[in-house]
Amino acid sequence: MRPRKVKGFPLFSYYGSKSKLAPLYDRPRFDTIVEPFAGSAAYSLDGDNWRKNVVLYDSNPKVAAVWDYLIHATDADIAALPDVHPGQKVTDFGQLSQAERWLIGFNINRGSSMPKVTASRRSDGLRYRKALLENHHKVKHWKIFNASYETAPNREATWFVDPPYQKNGQYYYGFADMDYAALGKWCLERLGQVIVCENDGADWLPFRVLTTFRGSMQSQVEVVWTQDSPGGGAHSHEPSSASGSA
Ligand SMILES: C[S@@+](CC[C@H](N)C(=O)[O-])C[C@H]1O[C@@H](n2cnc3c(N)ncnc32)[C@H](O)[C@@H]1O
Repeated sequence: MRPRKVKGFPLFSYYGSKSKLAPLYDRPRFDTIVEPFAGSAAYSLDGDNWRKNVVLYDSNPKVAAVWDYLIHATDADIAALPDVHPGQKVTDFGQLSQAERWLIGFNINRGSSMPKVTASRRSDGLRYRKALLENHHKVKHWKIFNASYETAPNREATWFVDPPYQKNGQYYYGFADMDYAALGKWCLERLGQVIVCENDGADWLPFRVLTTFRGSMQSQVEVVWTQDSPGGGAHSHEPSSASGSA
């Protein structure tokens, strides 16, 4: 099965982003989408999903800081970001905040799980700034928590759960601490609509094949597990306290 045309636009490039696969997952049925393993949150940016109450969690402080920046940045902030050309370093631009360096660092070396300092040959500074200017308004009402997934209060929502892969997630911050049996139990307990992403070979939930796609090195089988709370309503609420953002 081939992914249909992507309507969303990622605000930063990220290793393992679901930007191409996002259209293949079930549509959100609740007013709130929670991404407890946010990364670049491609599912929440797909199509019109961004209009929902989107609540993100990521234990990586750099990822959380970039989201916090994107949520609060003005057009003027983004228009002032420099073009970092191939071979240049983000540290050459003394006026940048740390979060701006990390944001640019993700975009100048695409598909990385950590922000880079030196722009690669494929870097295109103008393109990411234009895309940010056109799309950052989508996230103004979103929330980001620099916290582990277990801290998310359970409530009726669409839970889009995309953790580091059990078999191949070693490139992500936090992989060494992952307890997949505990995560599987946590997923079973979520209220509302639950969509869990994994790769072929994962055994912590009864996954089924979603699609096969061409990865950067080889063909990959993406699997999914879904659950809907019986009788769940189609409305959910914002968390009462929004402390803990990066
Ligand atoms: C596979 S990536 C998510 C990709 C995302 N769906 C996207 O479209 O870009 C997994 C993310 O989980 C984060 N992470 C790892 N351990 C975590 C934990 N215990 N709690 C929350 N986030 C965690 C990593 O920093 C990483 O950003």
